[in-house]
Amino acid sequence: MSTSTSIIIFGISGDLAQRKLIPALFNLYQKGRLNGDFQIIGFAGRAWSDEDLCNAARSGIEKYADYKIDETAWHKFSDRLFYHAGNFQDEASFQRLALMLAQIENGSAYRLFYLATPPDFFTHIITNLGKTGQVEENGGWRRVVIEKPFGTDLESARSLNREIRQVLREDQIYRIDHYLGKETVQNIMIARFANTIFEPVWNRNYIDNVQITVAETVGLEQRAGYYDKVGVVRDMFQNHLLQLLSLIAMEPPASHKADDQRDEKVKVLKAIRKIPFDQVGLHAVRGQYQGYQAEEGVAPNTQTATYAAIRFYIDNWRWQGVPFYLRSGKRLKEKMSEIVVQFKRPPHRMFPLPDEYEFTSNTLTLCLQPDEGIHLKFETKVPDTSADTRSVDLEYHYRDVFGEKAIPEAYERLLLDGLHGDASLFTRSDRNELAWELLDPILSAWESPDGPPLAIYEPGSWGPTEAEALLDRDSYKWMRGCGNHPSK
Ligand code: BG6
Repeated sequence: MSTSTSIIIFGISGDLAQRKLIPALFNLYQKGRLNGDFQIIGFAGRAWSDEDLCNAARSGIEKYADYKIDETAWHKFSDRLFYHAGNFQDEASFQRLALMLAQIENGSAYRLFYLATPPDFFTHIITNLGKTGQVEENGGWRRVVIEKPFGTDLESARSLNREIRQVLREDQIYRIDHYLGKETVQNIMIARFANTIFEPVWNRNYIDNVQITVAETVGLEQRAGYYDKVGVVRDMFQNHLLQLLSLIAMEPPASHKADDQRDEKVKVLKAIRKIPFDQVGLHAVRGQYQGYQAEEGVAPNTQTATYAAIRFYIDNWRWQGVPFYLRSGKRLKEKMSEIVVQFKRPPHRMFPLPDEYEFTSNTLTLCLQPDEGIHLKFETKVPDTSADTRSVDLEYHYRDVFGEKAIPEAYERLLLDGLHGDASLFTRSDRNELAWELLDPILSAWESPDGPPLAIYEPGSWGPTEAEALLDRDSYKWMRGCGNHPSK
């Protein structure tokens, strides 16, 4: 008898499952990537039937997916959806789950457990899986995907790691960061290590500074209960922004294997200079959009930051002295994520130009979203002048080369990797703890009564002016490298 695969999603009735997980799984199925015998079991508290789950899944796909539904494929797919009503804290619910799985699987099976629940339930679920023997690898592999946030500081991340490791081996744990599943984020390593033109100049001798922006126009989106407790640093920096920094700054891994890549990322985080508690105001700015305190569900007088800008330095041979500026916020002017690598100006100006004339620095911009691609800005001579120059942009857009719909949802890739046992786009425990170690002093300073002030910014702006000042002090400006925004 062949071995089937069970995908068990905890929190199936929640937002993430509806918006991302089910649409991704169905698209994988439509594309023929989810082969063989499989079943999807949704576990949540509501008193749903299998049919209710199918209806919810279908409406999630219709609402959030941007592909066409193949009705024959949907028919077959929906036959493989099962619902289990239970309580994450109740062992008996897990015993019933085990029985249900044994019945559906009808033989040996691989199992991917996906924790798409609020973090308070992570330990309960894993402990109950352990107690009911469901992660023992007697009939095939058992893997557990854990959503973020993974802890809220170093202490809580360590204790979460300790607790789940009592039940699971590290290689069974897949801590997810959906940014790593984004096509354009995966392309950072391809750009750097599948080409020879970048690597020779990818260091402090040629690079002046690096700017990483992840800007959002959305605000709380019914997530006040979660967001107001965490704020932008825990929500975006601990995972997404520090991952982007690692991909830009890491040394070439020896191979594409998960641990070779993850070792290099860990080395970068170890080399980042820690910002001392009493110097947080010099290196970081926190902001809150005007009107945030009046949002439904936030604490009275909440000081939660919805915007942050942080300057890091990496103390190693490659990056000594090069500032890395990271910023992210909600209710900003545009949704856009990009990484601008600004190169140094030419050391000598040999052209007949006025003394005050300055070349614009070359920039290489990795455009992560929405204008996916790469822009390279360089100087060219203005025709019919003696030596005047102007910056021009060499642009590569995914849509021009691969078509409008070329870029898949990040979750498709990550789910598939989880099923194939490839952990390279998931985070390891040491990486997670190191990221918290870097951010803890910043969060503690901000949360202390006499910490650096919270700057208020206009919704629809680019954030507080204090974030401009952070760069201004180093004689830089935040740059835009993608889209139709000449940055000069
Ligand atoms: C999530 C955060 O991890 O990333 C959200 O919890 C944020 O607050 C989202 O909106 C942004 O992701 P994307 O893919 O839209 O850039």
